[in-house]
Amino acid sequence: MKLNLIQHDLKTKLEIIFIKDKKINSNKKELALLNFTAKDETCVIVDNKLYVGYESTNTDSLRIAASTAIRKINETNYKNAKIKVATKDLAEVLEGFYLGNYTFKKYKSNKEKTKEKTLNIIVNKLDKKVISIFDKTSHICNSVNMVRDFVNTTPEDFYPKIMAKKAKKIAKENNLDYKVYSDDYFKEQGMGSIDAVGRASQHKSKLIHLTYKPKGEIKKKIVLVGKGLTYDSGGLSLKPADFMVTMKSDKSGGSAVLGIMDAVAKLKLPFEIHGIVGAVENMIGGDAFKPDDVLTAKNGKTIEVRNTDAEGRLVLADCLCYAQDEIQDIDYIMDFATLTGASVVGVGHYTTSVMGNNNYLNYRVVQAAIDSGELATSLPFNRYLRKTIKSKIADVCNISSTRYGGAITAGMFLDEFIKDEYKDKWVHCDIAGPAYVEEQWGYNPYGASGAGVRFTIEFLNSLLKD
Ligand code: BES
Ligand code: ZN
Ligand code: ZN
Repeated sequence: MKLNLIQHDLKTKLEIIFIKDKKINSNKKELALLNFTAKDETCVIVDNKLYVGYESTNTDSLRIAASTAIRKINETNYKNAKIKVATKDLAEVLEGFYLGNYTFKKYKSNKEKTKEKTLNIIVNKLDKKVISIFDKTSHICNSVNMVRDFVNTTPEDFYPKIMAKKAKKIAKENNLDYKVYSDDYFKEQGMGSIDAVGRASQHKSKLIHLTYKPKGEIKKKIVLVGKGLTYDSGGLSLKPADFMVTMKSDKSGGSAVLGIMDAVAKLKLPFEIHGIVGAVENMIGGDAFKPDDVLTAKNGKTIEVRNTDAEGRLVLADCLCYAQDEIQDIDYIMDFATLTGASVVGVGHYTTSVMGNNNYLNYRVVQAAIDSGELATSLPFNRYLRKTIKSKIADVCNISSTRYGGAITAGMFLDEFIKDEYKDKWVHCDIAGPAYVEEQWGYNPYGASGAGVRFTIEFLNSLLKD
C-alpha cells in the first residue's frame, strides 16, 4: 500500500470513516440496520464507505482503527481509498496504516502478489509540520517492520554472521561506524561468559557495535545493548519441545537495537548512540558449556552456571562490560532482551517489564512506552530477591534459588555487571512478552512485533525536553 499525503481528493471512491465507541449517529441508519456496533477491530463497507469502529477509552485506538481499515482494504478489490485526518491524529493514524499493513511472506511459495494500492491521506494543509510528521512516522515504522522481518526469519537463515551482515548494511546505509568481534577477541578480552554460550554452535558468536554520531551538537551519549540469541535451544539444560518453538525470536532485543540505530540515524537525533548486540546461538554438543561450569566475565566476576537456558544474561553480562569499558561518559545505558518466561507470566504477552536501580528512569521509560503505543510496566528490585542469586562457589549464580520473581532476579543478575558510576543510568527492558506473539493483536501481526523500537525513540525524544 502506498501512502500519499494530499489536500484534496474528489476522485477516490472508497472513503474510510472512523466511528467512535458504540454510538451510531442517526445519519448512519444503514449501520444500525446492519447491526454494526463500533468496537475495536470492527469494520463494514456500505456505499463506498468503509466504517471502522474504535473504542476511545483505549489510547491506542486510532492506530488499531487504521490497521483494521488497511487490512480490510487489502481484502477487497478497491485499488485506492481515502481518509481525512486531523494533524493532531496524523502520526497515530499513519502508524496504524504502516504497522497494520505488514505481512511476512518470505516462506510462502504462493506469494499472491498484493496489487499495489494507494491510500490518500487528506490533510487540512500540506505544511512543513505535516510533512515532518509523515517523514518521521514512516522512518520509525520502516525500522519496526525491518525488525519484524529479522525476528521472523528462521534460525537456518538468520544466525550471528547474518545478523552482523544486516548490521553492516544498516551502518553503510546510514553512515554509522561498524565493528564486529568474535571468539578470538572474547578470549583475548576475558569475555568468558559470552564465549561459553555460543561454543557448541556451528555458527561463531559475534559482538556487533554500531555507532551513530550526529552532525551537530551532541546532547547526550546513549548506549543500547541487545540480546541477539539467533536461536535458544536451552543448551544442555534443553528446553522441552513445546517451549523451544518460537525461540528464533530470542534475537528480538538485538534486532530492536539494530532497528533503533536505523531509525535514530534517519531521524538525525542529536545524540551519540551506540548499539551493541550479542549475536549468539545456544546449542548442544560435545563442546557445550555445562551446568556446574564457572565462567569469568569481562569485569572479572565469576558466574556459577546452574542452568544453560539462562544464557541471555550471560551474553548480556559481557556486552554490558564491553560497553562500559569501551565507551566513556555514558548518560544512559538501556538493554533489550527476551530474557525470561517469568516476565511473560507476570505481566502478560503484550507488556515489556522495565527494571533498574533508578525508579525515576524506569518511570520515564514506562511513560515513553505508553506515549508511543507500546505497553510497559516497571518491576521493582529488592534486597531479598537480590540474595537469591548468590553462589556458594562463585561471585554470582546465573539462576535464582527461588522460582518466583524470575524476571526481577534476571534483571538483578545484569546489575552485577553495571559499574557503580552507571547504576542509576541503566535500565533493563525485558521484552519477552511483546516481542513475539503467536496471534494478531491490534496493529501487530502474528509473530514478531518489533517491540522496543517505538518506545525507545519516544524516550530519546523525551530527553530533548529536559
Ligand atoms: N529466551 C528465554 C526466555 C523466554 C521465554 C523468552 C519465553 C521468550 C519467551 C531465556 O533464555 C530463558 O530460557 N530463560 C529461562 C530462565 C530460567 C532457566 C531461569 C526461563 O525464563 O525459563
Ligand atoms: Zn534460554
Ligand atoms: Zn534466551
